[in-house]
Amino acid sequence: MFSLREDGQAPATARHRGDYQAPAWWIDTVDLTFDLDPAKTRVLNRMRVRRNPDVPAQPLRLDGDELNLARVMVNGAGTSFRMDAGQLVLENLPQDEAGFDLEIFTTCAPEKNTALMGLYVSQGTFFTQCEAEGFRRITYFLDRPDVMASYQVLLRADKAAYPVLLSNGNLVEQGDLDGGRHFAKWVDPHKKPCYLFALVAGKLVARQQRITSRTGKEHLLEVYVRPGDLGKTEHAMNSLMASVAWDETRFGLSLDLERFMIVATSDFNMGAMENKGLNVFNTKYVLASQATATDVDFSNIESVVGHEYFHNWTGNRVTCRDWFQLSLKEGLTVFRDQEFSMDMAGSASARAVKRIEDVRVLRTVQFPEDAGPMAHPVRPESYVEINNFYTVTIYEKGAEVVRMMHTLVGREGFARGMKLYFERHDGQAVTCDDFAAAIADANPGSELATRLDAFKRWYSQAGTPCVKAQGEYDATAQTYTLTLSQSCPATPNQPSKLPFVIPVELGLLAQDGSALPLQMEGETAPGASTRTVVLDAASLTLRFIGVASAPVPSLLRSFSAPVRLDYAYTDAELLTLLAHDTDAFNRWEAGQRLMLRCAINAIAGSADASSAGGTLDAEIMDADLLAALRRTLRDPQLDAAYKELVLSLPSESYLAEQLDVVDPQRVHAVREAMRLQLATALRSDWEAAYEASHDTGAYQPDAASAGRRALAGQALSMLCLAAQHTGDAVWPGKTLQRFKDAGNMTDRFAALAALVTSGHPHAAAALARFHALFKDDALVIDKWFALQAGTPDRGGHVLPAVQALMKHPDFQIGNPNRARSLIFSYCSANPGAFHRADGAGYRFWADRVLALDAINPQVAARLARALDRWSKLAEPWRSVAHTAIAQVAGHAKLSKDVREVVTRALETP
Ligand code: TRP
Ligand code: ZN
Repeated sequence: MFSLREDGQAPATARHRGDYQAPAWWIDTVDLTFDLDPAKTRVLNRMRVRRNPDVPAQPLRLDGDELNLARVMVNGAGTSFRMDAGQLVLENLPQDEAGFDLEIFTTCAPEKNTALMGLYVSQGTFFTQCEAEGFRRITYFLDRPDVMASYQVLLRADKAAYPVLLSNGNLVEQGDLDGGRHFAKWVDPHKKPCYLFALVAGKLVARQQRITSRTGKEHLLEVYVRPGDLGKTEHAMNSLMASVAWDETRFGLSLDLERFMIVATSDFNMGAMENKGLNVFNTKYVLASQATATDVDFSNIESVVGHEYFHNWTGNRVTCRDWFQLSLKEGLTVFRDQEFSMDMAGSASARAVKRIEDVRVLRTVQFPEDAGPMAHPVRPESYVEINNFYTVTIYEKGAEVVRMMHTLVGREGFARGMKLYFERHDGQAVTCDDFAAAIADANPGSELATRLDAFKRWYSQAGTPCVKAQGEYDATAQTYTLTLSQSCPATPNQPSKLPFVIPVELGLLAQDGSALPLQMEGETAPGASTRTVVLDAASLTLRFIGVASAPVPSLLRSFSAPVRLDYAYTDAELLTLLAHDTDAFNRWEAGQRLMLRCAINAIAGSADASSAGGTLDAEIMDADLLAALRRTLRDPQLDAAYKELVLSLPSESYLAEQLDVVDPQRVHAVREAMRLQLATALRSDWEAAYEASHDTGAYQPDAASAGRRALAGQALSMLCLAAQHTGDAVWPGKTLQRFKDAGNMTDRFAALAALVTSGHPHAAAALARFHALFKDDALVIDKWFALQAGTPDRGGHVLPAVQALMKHPDFQIGNPNRARSLIFSYCSANPGAFHRADGAGYRFWADRVLALDAINPQVAARLARALDRWSKLAEPWRSVAHTAIAQVAGHAKLSKDVREVVTRALETP
């Protein structure tokens, strides 16, 4: 029996993957009637329910959360029921095959819903968010993804306040009602799990576009926004049209709806949601104009629009059996949106830039997750709150797992596998095993099919594997022997691991940098200069023959597997790769390794010096590295976007991850010194880069011109930094002028950021001017907050600034975008400012976690993760961080979301 804990909180019990049981009942049809009212919305839910004959008879247990139950009827008559742990339990139900009618009448209070799950109001408009378990906040239901039903929805509301009434599928009827009200009736032609249900009602306007698909069918595409925002929807619509076309050409998957709608809201917990035919988006991923959105915003919109659209097949037509299978749809759909963005980017170089950006996210966010207290396999074994498992592991590592399958079966083979997946499972709720089986079965004899069980360890084992490589050149035999071996650190509940199946793409370079044709022992002739080998045991030895001189190995090209690569490169070898590797990813990676090495040496070098006052050698990077970076910057063959990436230092959090014990102030100081060194040593090169790239003509968001703007912005930031050091006034003056004159947000914001991050006296006036210019545009004001909270710390100045901004009239903690722009930018994205030796950053964090938890547990739990890696910190940070986490954990009223995160953090050994 359910009982309250002594502290009055619901028990936070874990769910386990192995406990899956098919539902005892099916719900075939759902007929919903909504009388929408912000204070009290009435929901009439009429279902056709029938017993699942495949499982033993059980009572019907319907999930519900924060509902007021008014009436329950079975086949039109009142019935007895009981409540158990929030569930509505019905016994003695008709057991026959035909099933019965179940009618449930409840009310809820959308205007009081600050968690933004279920039905809520945002700026006077009703929205729903049901994934993962939000539908139970709308009505009692079997709130699990393997119960798929046909929906029809009747919406009724005041016509003046809510002129637009939307739900999934097709609009079949609409009209006026008495008392100034009206109605709309929607029927979804596709069966779906309840997490894909959506409704929207409010004052909205739409950009409309009719398209004809390859099959000749006509479709209506719509993007709904608030009146006044219509001018910012063109890019989202273009992205949607491109997504439809791409899924047809690349995978033969067509739009299966007459009407496909996107609706934007400024109150949203995440990026966007793939509700069937009615995607709901965070405004951040819809609205863009050159005056208000940066190139990064434009590119994010393209990929998120693509992501949600691609879910229509990978997620909606074939969905997840249970939430442990989340990566089935998320990993696959991220892989698809990454491929879409790469195909849209065009040139080989632009594709490499996209790949580098994706890998950077994986390594700076997912690798730490996999090494920390929240580490979990791509297919988790257990969870307390599923919302906590919408993670970079499920999404980004999941996408890498799909990418490795793609690598192992080839592009054509993967397309065949996808086809088989849909032939087998269209309309079903399935598992990660089903997906892997389809890809393998469509490719018998492939590198994947021959070792499928071992490959699937990527789904079951957490942790980032390490591949150690050792090479030995034999000059007399002209052979090069490469030994690859793998290991994987322990993760929570997984002390030891079995070998992973790791595709390693590799090549060999001669000392002069030329690519060597590869010939392995037993082969009759040399072949291509790059190939993929599969490491599927503890170790693998490869022998290359006909190698005329000691080669430089280029390993894990294109980042062919989500692993750490450990090879004892000499500086000279890395410089060769940086100058010559034909693999653009590894060329960039060589530069990163060189910079990382300098940083780590500098961090370790003066470990004896006290972290605050310790002296720092300004020359952290040596002349050879600087010369190589200079050559990159000056190379006329390389694209601007690529140069910008090569010239970017590894982030403080990436540096910290490479250390066993982290003094975050030392890391910050070293990286800042390196930034200054890059700025001053390459000063004239930055000037040349700026002159060559700063004029990009009329604004176009394409990859090539965005790349030039990125490089120009980086150059300005370096020139302002150098100027702060030398006292030069010219570049800050030019930067201020560019800030004022800029014709687009990318250039304007880059100039503003250059002034703010270099700490120039112009910064304050520029910030004030920026705010005045954009005070009515919430997404731009988010940037304004984020820049100030994320700026490099100088003597602890950021926290007081953040505290002052918390009191700014524009700050709203209940709006997730605003909370993220100020609080998360400080706690999660500015380690040098957050990790204060006095612990004030951590106390600020604890207070904000608790304040947010009372409003929106999902967002609070994300913030709670900012201290995941506390146990790696040096003293005094480690103890102070522990105290702050314990303070949160000890709070009397915590959501299960936050409780799970802090409990796991405190369990860290
Ligand atoms: N399924 C969504 C996606 O990846 C994300 C999502 C899950 C979400 N839960 C959510 C979005 C809650 C908003 C709120 O595309
Ligand atoms: Zn998704």
